[in-house]
Amino acid sequence: MHQQSDGGRRKAALRKLESLGVQYPIMQAGMGGGIAGPTLAAAVSAAGGIGTLGLQDVSTWEKVLEQTKIQAGGRPFSVNLLLPYTRSRHIDAVIRQNIPMATLFWGDGRPLIQQLHRYEVFVFKQVGSKSEAEQALDAGIDGLIVQGFEAGGHVRGNQRLNAILPEIAELTSTIPIFAAGGVYTAQDARRAISLGASGVCTGTRFLLTPESDAHEAYRQRLLAADETIVTRLFGLGWPEAHRVVPNKATQKWCRKDGTIPTWLQALNSAMTFTRKIVPMKASLAATQRPGLPIFSPIAPVRELPAELVEATALYAGEHVGRIRDIVPARVIV
Ligand SMILES: Cc1cc2nc3c(=O)[nH]c(=O)nc-3n(C[C@H](O)[C@H](O)[C@H](O)COP(=O)(O)O)c2cc1C
Repeated sequence: MHQQSDGGRRKAALRKLESLGVQYPIMQAGMGGGIAGPTLAAAVSAAGGIGTLGLQDVSTWEKVLEQTKIQAGGRPFSVNLLLPYTRSRHIDAVIRQNIPMATLFWGDGRPLIQQLHRYEVFVFKQVGSKSEAEQALDAGIDGLIVQGFEAGGHVRGNQRLNAILPEIAELTSTIPIFAAGGVYTAQDARRAISLGASGVCTGTRFLLTPESDAHEAYRQRLLAADETIVTRLFGLGWPEAHRVVPNKATQKWCRKDGTIPTWLQALNSAMTFTRKIVPMKASLAATQRPGLPIFSPIAPVRELPAELVEATALYAGEHVGRIRDIVPARVIV
């Protein structure tokens, strides 16, 4: 019997994406709250990769979907459905606008996978553990993004990419597996592929482009950064672990290992009920001060004042120190 090689199986798994018009299995991670807007997602997709629109407030969502479609000029792109913040109106708009791909993160997602499949949406899920990958496979997921602990933003699991990627790659050879967490260069991508990935995904590398909507002062902090910490400080309403570059807020409230006072963690948890009620708007972060212990997950986008880099989450991957330049998205792809 003809045995297909690992490389051959990985290529076959990518055919569905190719049929949608994806040229390169290089994905820009959806970064919510306005960081990855239409310009970034469209630039990545126009270059042949998979651009992803980060989740935005439901009041502007359909408009930004339309804008991305126009800017992408017919190239396929994905939308990030960050489950703790996704409302049914977000999903309805994705379906109405015929968006070909969606990426789910942080939650079960089973009914949503089925719903999106009825409209032929190709559904990815970003996972942080083998058991989460098994559940997603069981639910009929079309593609997995394996997130290592070195990733920027919210970190789902606690294993580094080189440990978790081969474990998950072993589970399936029929769907694409993208590797996320410090994968910034062609050399990183080759390493991920040798560990079983068929594609790669990065947030931090695409944040440091002219096309992202990260505030200039945020970009400068990342370009100068050498270290990150994992904390739950910026967890008002979403009290989960996230990786950031330190700033005045983390210096004031976090211990050396990133942990925060128990009462602050309790406050963040108590506000979980707000996340589908309060608008997901950057302007809400504008009231934050390093000395006042109320920190939303919103990162500094262009429209906010520059001094907020001391009081908002400066999400970045652990390997941010390897990135020292702003490069157009097309060049990265
Ligand atoms: C600024 C920033 C914001 C992020 N926001 C989201 C998000 O809204 N939804 C999501 O699925 N992942 C988000 N992530 C995580 C990415 O999906 C991905 O796991 C991560 O960027 C990979 O690590 P890297 O940043 O080292 O490339 C974010 C990452 C960063 C850096």
